Amino acid sequence: MKGIVLAGGSGTRLYPITEGVSKQVLQVYDKPMVYYPISTLMLAGIKDIAIITTPEDQNQFKRVLGDGSKFGVNFNYIVQPSPDGLAQAFILGKDFIGDDECAMVLGDNIFYGGDFTKILNNARENAEHGKATIFGYRVKDPQRFGIMELDDDNNVIGVEEKPEHPKSDYCITGLYFYPKGVADMASKVVPSKRGELEITSLNDMYLRNGDLKAELLNRGFKWFDTGTTDSLLAANNFVQFEQNELDTIIACLEQIGYQNGWLDKDALLARADLLRKNNYGAYLKRIAEEEKTFKIRK
Ligand code: G1P
Repeated sequence: MKGIVLAGGSGTRLYPITEGVSKQVLQVYDKPMVYYPISTLMLAGIKDIAIITTPEDQNQFKRVLGDGSKFGVNFNYIVQPSPDGLAQAFILGKDFIGDDECAMVLGDNIFYGGDFTKILNNARENAEHGKATIFGYRVKDPQRFGIMELDDDNNVIGVEEKPEHPKSDYCITGLYFYPKGVADMASKVVPSKRGELEITSLNDMYLRNGDLKAELLNRGFKWFDTGTTDSLLAANNFVQFEQNELDTIIACLEQIGYQNGWLDKDALLARADLLRKNNYGAYLKRIAEEEKTFKIRK
């Protein structure tokens, strides 16, 4: 299975912060924002990841992430010349995806909570069986998001982009799993009124074919779309609190690479040495010296 991180866009909602720097490389407590969505794909066992950016910003991402070897993964870089909608990612990524299933995560979306690996594995299995999966999270302001309508058994029966009169409070978060053939499906999406290839139109096509499933992220799960100054600050504060409380590091890509068996101990220790001046480096050293406590699906 392949993975895409969509990190395009001009980040105008965060101006002037993002006038000279891409939103997705901004700080979320102790690491760049883009680490978090990458961690989501890695937790799903995805090793081949394409990073889609604007042409101007690609070099910033290459400097921050490199070729992925420091985390035990492979990064491919793809340019989105103009932001024509989220579903365009699959058209741009057609060669990269090849004949594989593909997950996509938005570069400003942070997911954190118990049972996440299990939820991701369900979505992956759905994709292997020809079904797409979207992930629902209850929000207070459903007009701002894509929204899913659910029946009494939590089957998804409708999807709408930023509806005036939402049929539920379940936002469609920026994480999507698709079976083989998603690039061809995306090429059939008709631009919306605002001229974009909407991800919600793509999801609606799967729904009409009877091929769309929903996983709900329930109470205790935390999701942030860090596209505004307030939500960005809230995400920073949350990660600081949670990490200090639990004495852990969230979205530690080296740790996930190591636990997935993609990064060996020497590579982990070398990275710990590079980051030795701070807590992140100390944490990597601790991980390397501990026994592997659990293994995530390869
Ligand atoms: C996009 C999607 C929307 C989704 C949201 C999640 O909206 O179009 O369906 O709910 O991401 O972050 P945007 O934030 O680009 O307006």
